Formats: sequence, structure tokens, C-alpha cells
Amino acid sequence: MVDWTRIRSDFPALQRKINGRSVVYLDSACMALKPRQVIDAMYDYYEKYPACAGRSIHKFGEEASNAYLAARKKFADFLNASQPEECIWTRNATESLNIVASSVKIPKGSKIVTTSLEHHSGSLPFVERARRDGLTVEVIKAQADGTFDIEDWKRTIDSNTSLVSVVHSSNVTGTVAPIKEIVEIAHDCGALVMSDDAQFAPHHPLDVQAFDMDFSAVSVHKMCGPTGMGVLYGKLEHLESMNMFLYGGDTVSDVRFENGKIIPEYLPPPEKFEAGLQNYAGAIGAGAAAEYLQSIGMEEIEKHERSLLEIAIKRLLEMDHVHILGTDDITIKTGLVTFRVDSVPSAHDVATFLNDEFNVMVRSGWHCAGPFHYQMGIDPKKGTARASFYLYNNKEDVRVFLEGLTKLVEISS
Ligand SMILES: Cc1ncc(COP(=O)(O)O)c(C=O)c1O
Repeated sequence: MVDWTRIRSDFPALQRKINGRSVVYLDSACMALKPRQVIDAMYDYYEKYPACAGRSIHKFGEEASNAYLAARKKFADFLNASQPEECIWTRNATESLNIVASSVKIPKGSKIVTTSLEHHSGSLPFVERARRDGLTVEVIKAQADGTFDIEDWKRTIDSNTSLVSVVHSSNVTGTVAPIKEIVEIAHDCGALVMSDDAQFAPHHPLDVQAFDMDFSAVSVHKMCGPTGMGVLYGKLEHLESMNMFLYGGDTVSDVRFENGKIIPEYLPPPEKFEAGLQNYAGAIGAGAAAEYLQSIGMEEIEKHERSLLEIAIKRLLEMDHVHILGTDDITIKTGLVTFRVDSVPSAHDVATFLNDEFNVMVRSGWHCAGPFHYQMGIDPKKGTARASFYLYNNKEDVRVFLEGLTKLVEISS
């Protein structure tokens, strides 16, 4: 049994009081809070051995190299990658998606398939790649509840499809896509799959081998890790065959100067994709975050969040003027709920009221998912509000959130 009260005490930000009240943080789908274990790991690096990993052979350098290597191994274990070299450190999931979109080799005239539910970071890099190379992009329309009709995937992915970019768990509807089936359909047609796991990885067990994913983009800051850190997982064979993204120091095994020419020889992955001095503290923090979540258990975290989501959704469904965006079936959802309050002009007003009156922090806006908001006829400027739950939230958080929303509905209608 996980002691969720003890887990809560790992997060210093939750110990704060603002205006004499506890804080209710329900914005983890944007940015997760950081546990003491992650902060300490990074602090340790900065305080004790803040040197360059992989290059400097002195004692600090050696300690930094060991910690950096260990962090990659921890992250590979978290994803069940077959080897650490399949995990590339990036700045965020957006960069991971961009690396694949711009560097994977795609046959001329082929097709990229994506969906109307993508975060902009999961669609735009591919839209731009297509524009650059004259490729076609076909967009599968999510259903109103945020799920997909698997027949649409079968119809759309064909032998001319080179790449599929799909959000594994939506940051808007929270719906989890049937990734295994999508991967199977894609692979049967010879296409590669880029899974956007920015929302899935922090909240569910993610086994990249079991899903047979070609690529996965992970946002470390959404999984209790430091800001400015992401991971690109890629099967080694794909990473090896891809073009490079950035060139420069640390990507090379040799750079000769012959007959007036500079001739580089590049390293294999992961160094091939990690040009320049890296965010060592960030990587060490990412490793600590992966280890921290694993020590609790991703199945347990998933269950805990769904138990909170269930309470929230049950009440939201009863409330006048509140409309949930996407399905209310918690068994196919990550722990978040997006909603509109039709008696309040804009979602920002909802977020402002909850924040000002109840210290409840939710997200408002279009959640970088313009196409789905347009599809659903929601003015992106008015947007939707989103409450997202994580391992450190408890029933009291849900109660305060619902109390705040009930009050808002009362005074606005
Ligand atoms: C589904 C999804 N994909 C991609 C991203 C982008 O992640 P990052 O901020 O790490 O680039 C987000 C961020 O909210 C997201 O929710």
C-alpha cells in the first residue's frame, strides 16, 4: 500500500500556504511539482561536482560522467528501452518531436498521418516537414469524446504512409489512444510511429518495447523532473539511420583536416543527437524523477489518479452549466478533466476565480490544441479549463476544487 500522505510530504511546494490557505495544485498536466528527491539530486550535482560529463577526466568530471550515465540508465529502465543509448536527452517533448519530424528519412511523395487531437507540438513539426519536402499530411479526426474509430486508422494508413504521429494520451480529453493497434496497423504498412507520450509517461506504465513504438517523446518536467528536460526514445536502428539535428562538439569521433577540408566522423546515438555541453543537472534530475516514480509504481499512480478523477467527474456531471470536454469514462482516461462553464464568459475567468478565492490552480486556454477546440466548435480564445491530478493530490484537493466551482456556478448563473 502506498502511503499517499507521505508522498505528499515529499513535495516542498505543497507545504506552502498562500493567504493563510493551503494550495491545491491541479495543473500537473502542464508542469508537475518536484519532490525533494529530485531537487536534492540536482542540488548535489551543483554543490559537489558541477563539472562537464563525458569529456573532463578529472575527479569532478568523472563523478559527473558517472551520474550522467546512471541517469540515462534509470530513464531507459523507466521506459523499458532495450538499451540506454535509445534515450536521447532533449529540452522537452517538443524538441523530441521536432528531431524526429525533421531528421527521420522519409521517401519522396509519401504520406504522414496525424490526428485532430494532437498537441501543436505533435502536429506542427510534421506539417512543416511535409511542407518542406512536398509530402502529404492526412489528419484523422478524433471523435467528440476524444476517442478514435480504429477503422479510420485502417482506412487512412496505407502502403504510402511513412510516418504516423499520434498523441498517446490527450492533454485535452485525457483519452488514451489504442497505441498498440495503431502501431500494428502502421507497421503492417511499413510506416513508423511517433508516439507523443508527454501526458502518458507521467501517469501510466510505459513500456516502449511492449508497445513496439518506433519513437516516443517524453516531457520530463511533467513527471516530477526538472524544467527544460525531455527525452526522445527511438529504436536504435532508427536513431542510427536518421539525419543529425544539430552539429558540433561532442557529436564526433574524429574531425580531420585534409587537403584544406574539414572532415568529420560522427558518433552513434545518443551522442549523435546531443551536440554541445549538456544539461547535466537536468539529466541527473530526470534520472531521479524516473527512479522516484518507479519506486512508487506507475500502476499505483494511475489507480490513485483515477480514484480522484472519478470523484471529480461524478460531481461535474451533476453540475448545471458545466460541460466536460471528451469522455467521462475514467477507465480510458489519464487523470485530468477539461470543462467549460457556460455561465462564465471565458475559461480564464474560471481559473482566475478558483485561484483567487480558493488557491486552486487549474489551467485555462486552448491547451495548445487549437484544431480539437475548433472541431468541437469552442472558441479557442474563450478556451476550456483543465484540472489535472497527480500522485500528490488527495481527496481534499478534489473537494476544494469542487467547492470552488460550485460557488462559481452559483454566482454566475
Ligand atoms: C500531449 C502533449 N504533447 C506535447 C507537449 C509538449 O511538451 P513540452 O512542453 O515538454 O515540449 C505537451 C505539453 O503540454 C503535451 O501535453
